Amino acid sequence: MPYDDKDKWDFATRAVRAGHNRSPEGEQGEPIFTTSSFVFDTAEQAAARFAGDDPGNIYSRFTNPTVRTFEERLATLEEGQRCVATGSGMAAIFSTCLATLKAGDHIVSSQSIFGTITVLFNNYLTRFGIETTFVPLADYDAWKNAIKGNTKMLFLETPSNPLLDVADISALAELAHANKSILVVDNTICTPVLQRPITLGADISINSTTKYIDGQGRSIGGAVIGSEALVGNEVFGVVRTCGPAMSPFNAWIALKGLETLSLRLQAHSASAKILASWLEQHELVKKVYYTGLASHPQHELADRQQHGLHGGLLSFELTGDSSQAKERAWQFCDATELVSITANLGDTKTILTHPATTTHGRVDPEVRAAAGISDGLLRIAVGLEAVKDIQADLERGFNAISK
Ligand SMILES: Cc1ncc(COP(=O)(O)O)c(C=O)c1O
Repeated sequence: MPYDDKDKWDFATRAVRAGHNRSPEGEQGEPIFTTSSFVFDTAEQAAARFAGDDPGNIYSRFTNPTVRTFEERLATLEEGQRCVATGSGMAAIFSTCLATLKAGDHIVSSQSIFGTITVLFNNYLTRFGIETTFVPLADYDAWKNAIKGNTKMLFLETPSNPLLDVADISALAELAHANKSILVVDNTICTPVLQRPITLGADISINSTTKYIDGQGRSIGGAVIGSEALVGNEVFGVVRTCGPAMSPFNAWIALKGLETLSLRLQAHSASAKILASWLEQHELVKKVYYTGLASHPQHELADRQQHGLHGGLLSFELTGDSSQAKERAWQFCDATELVSITANLGDTKTILTHPATTTHGRVDPEVRAAAGISDGLLRIAVGLEAVKDIQADLERGFNAISK
C-alpha cells in the first residue's frame, strides 16, 4: 500500500497520502468510484474472484476502491493491520459485537459511553443472550470485580463525554487479556491524532467518522480498526454479509477529512484550552471539566495517553441553586448568537449542548445525577471560529444569567 510505512513516513504524511493507488488516469485527487458492481474480463476471472482466489473487486457492499483508500489510510494512522468502514459509528459498534460475541457472552462496559450504545447493549444484545455490566470508567477495581467467566469484551470510551473522565487503556488491556477477553475502545472523541488505542494494547479501536474525521458535520460513517484476524476476517465478514457498508461518497469525505485531521485537532485543542482556562476563573462557573487543565484529576494520564493534546470537548457547571439550574442553563444557551445549539461534536462550528435535557434526557434523573450530569451542566464542542468570538458569545450567556 502506498505511503503506509510508519517507519518511513510521518503521521502527517500518511494522513495525506496513504492508501491511494493512482489509476491509469494519473489523478492527483482521490476519485469517487460510484459503482455498485465491478466487471470481470472473463467468466473464469469472475469465478476466481468469487472463490477468493483473485483479490479484485466484486460488489461495493464488500469492497470499493474509494472505501478501501479510506480504510487503508485510517488503518495506518491508528496503527492497526486492518480497517473496515461502516455506514455509521453505531454500525461499527454493532458489527464489532456481532463479529466477536455469541449467546451467553458477557460485556463489561464503562457506564459513561455514548447513550445509544447503552441502548444497543441493554435493549438489543440482551435479545440474543448477551448481558452487560456497567462500571465507572476510571474505577479499575470495579472493572476487575465485574469480570466473570463468560466475559468476552471490555468496552469503553476515554475521555468520557460529557464529564471527561479518563481510563488507563494499557491497564485495562492487560486486565482484559488476563481474562481471555478483548478490549474495544471507542476512539471517536480523540481520533488517532490524540490517541492510538491499539498501540496501548487494545484489540479494536472504533471511530464514528461523523465527528472529527469528517470534521465539518456533512456525513455519517464509522470504522473498526484492529488485527487481520479480528477485523480483516470477522468484522469484514459481518459487514460483507449483513450490509452496513460505508458509501463511496461518505468514504471520500472521511478520507479528505483525514488529510486535515491533525491540524484541525491541534486548533480545536488550543482553543478549548484557552476557553477552559477562562471558564475556570469565571465567577458564574462552579466547575470545569477538561483534561487539558492541570486541575483535572487525571491530567497527567490524559497527557501521556493523548500525545499532549486534549481535544475540543469541554463541559462546565454553572453556579446557582439546583432548583433553577435547568432554567439558567437554557437561558444561557438562548442568549448566545454564534454557537449552534445542537448535539453533535467534532464540527468546525462550535456546538453548545445541555446534556441533561438532550443527549441524556432519557436517562433516569437519579441515575443522571449520580453520574454527575446535573441540570446546570453545559457541554461545548469547541469549533474553529476565532476563539475571541466564541468567548464573547459565551459571555452573552453569562450576562443573561447574571441579571
Ligand atoms: C463517542 C461516540 N461513539 C459513537 C457514536 C455513534 O456514531 P454515529 O452517530 O456515527 O452512529 C457517537 C455519536 O454521537 C459518539 O459520540
